[in-house]
Amino acid sequence: MPETPEKARRLVVVSNRVADFSAKFQTGGLAVALGDALKASKGAWFGWSGKTRDDALTAPPDIETVSGLTVATIDLTKAEAEGYYFGYANRCLWPALHYRLDLAQTNEEQSEIYFQVNARFADALMPLIEPDDLIWVNDYHLIPLAEELRGRGCTARIGFFLHTPFPSPEIFAAVPSQKRLGNALMVYDVVGFQTTWDRDNFRRYVMATLDGEQLQGDRIAAQGETTLASVFPIGIDVNHVRNLAETEDAKGPLLPYAGDDMKTIIGVDRLDYTKGLPERLRAFEVLLERFPEHHGKVHLVQIAPPTREGLPVYQEIRENVERLVGRINGRFGDLTWQPVIYLHRGVPQDTLTRLFRRSHVGLVTPLHDGMNLVAKEYIAAQAPQNPGVLVLSRFAGAAEQLREAILINPHDIQETARALDRALTMPRQERWARHNRLWQRIETYDLFNWRDSFIQSFAESDTNPVNLFPKEA
Ligand code: G6P
Repeated sequence: MPETPEKARRLVVVSNRVADFSAKFQTGGLAVALGDALKASKGAWFGWSGKTRDDALTAPPDIETVSGLTVATIDLTKAEAEGYYFGYANRCLWPALHYRLDLAQTNEEQSEIYFQVNARFADALMPLIEPDDLIWVNDYHLIPLAEELRGRGCTARIGFFLHTPFPSPEIFAAVPSQKRLGNALMVYDVVGFQTTWDRDNFRRYVMATLDGEQLQGDRIAAQGETTLASVFPIGIDVNHVRNLAETEDAKGPLLPYAGDDMKTIIGVDRLDYTKGLPERLRAFEVLLERFPEHHGKVHLVQIAPPTREGLPVYQEIRENVERLVGRINGRFGDLTWQPVIYLHRGVPQDTLTRLFRRSHVGLVTPLHDGMNLVAKEYIAAQAPQNPGVLVLSRFAGAAEQLREAILINPHDIQETARALDRALTMPRQERWARHNRLWQRIETYDLFNWRDSFIQSFAESDTNPVNLFPKEA
């Protein structure tokens, strides 16, 4: 009997924004990882175009085909973008998910618009879906989407991956409309988290607030729904970063004014209040205060591209960061040495990778972070025989895997300053030993492992085999 070929399952990715597949170089990790799977399965990516227009409620989705995959976007009205994206998602959910209830704003109108926009996503998505599809929904903007799709008769399997932390149940229970969100999460077949902390927090929340019940393994039940709540730590394309670092390394110096004995500490973050930038700058200042032997011999290169600038809290964090940079440079710098080099813009990935390779310390100190891929990129870019040292916040999801970094509490400025001194003076043998372990871990749990294990989780208790990469006939 000839073998029956497995039926290929089509992947449909949904996220607030879609990757730009017409761009010559893909730099975003998600775009790289999911792009291949989408192309192989002739899949689709759906999201908001990032644009607003007055007639958005009646305009049809914009649908393009790029290298075999379908990219579909909708526009939003100004009021929708304001209520959904700038409002409930980024004024309420983002701070709460990062333990900043003090910044989380309650606004019923905005939360209503958030749920309505999710319904609009479902309306536009339904005609594009087939029953055998695997629908992969990303992040906090789209928590109610599965419920909306099910309400419209969608029977395809739907998974949700949360890229941010899931906070402790006491915090989540304080979010306005939290029960609606909790129930909506239970509708997914799979809910994926970055770390065991996040999964356990969600589980405890479901038990305490939704009268849930723990079933076998990672399965939980509540409100008549059963879901698989599991951990899938996101990774990076390790070989891509390493190759780029090696190629770029041959190109010579990057910071021409830094002499051979100048050590570089590198930080790269969106200018977001969750990233701990003021705390980091103060720790660098304390390093210079307490360890004067580093004067003239170390600088901090901080790259902080703008993000969500429409929100006042982001304008405030920028002012705060720029004041501190000025203070440190004015206080310690001289005509030949600038302690902090600060850029309020992004830099291309190749330049960044070269900077990582040449930096003696990677400084990643978020107050809370879902994973933090900069930490992993810094490791992947190091020269294996003479690697730099990663100083990493305990509250980055990456800390669960990257235990051989120097782990710090970013709120403890003195501890971070001491960690910086230790990293700058660490003997080569210890740097090498730590790096070796870190490298193995990021190589095993890379971007493709993350993608495949999450997709595979859809298949549990599913009769159709998952096959996104069918063999050529
Ligand atoms: C975080 C979120 C992502 C989001 C990114 C950029 O990493 O988890 O979902 O895409 O920030 O944020 P932005 O608001 O500029 O899309």
